Amino acid sequence: MTEDKTLSRRNFLSVATIGIGGLITALLGIPAVAYVVGPALKKQTEQDWIPVGRASKVEIGVPALFKVKIQRKAGWILNEQELSFYILTENGRDFIAMSNVCTHLGCRVRWVENDETFFCPCHNGVFAKDGKVVAGPPPKPLDQVQVKVEDDQLFILGG
Ligand code: FES
Repeated sequence: MTEDKTLSRRNFLSVATIGIGGLITALLGIPAVAYVVGPALKKQTEQDWIPVGRASKVEIGVPALFKVKIQRKAGWILNEQELSFYILTENGRDFIAMSNVCTHLGCRVRWVENDETFFCPCHNGVFAKDGKVVAGPPPKPLDQVQVKVEDDQLFILGG
């Protein structure tokens, strides 16, 4: 009978030790896994509004060039990237933001005031003020990103 009780205590202590060890492992492991996996999951689901400049800088009917530096995280790798956008408003309230990257082979377009068009010097691509293709090989309009204004501050949606 005494031996049974001793064995029972041993079993209990073994089970309790394993249980406490498992609990400690879980308590430490769950935050560690979240810390490792979290950034990758966050990147796939979140987008941020990125401040680009003052809305009052944009003349009505004239695309204005803005440059922003953004940091992109892919897992643990952090890259800094400079993006350029032309922002246009025709009424001072509604804005569109267009990439300055040509949709043909990726050269930079520039606004030509006299022609009121964007010109791509690589293969003579021409885009209208709103980004639509006018001439040349570009297969589609300039890419647009969402833009909003708060207290004269322009934001683009990035991520
Ligand atoms: S890269 Fe712009 S027209 Fe070819």
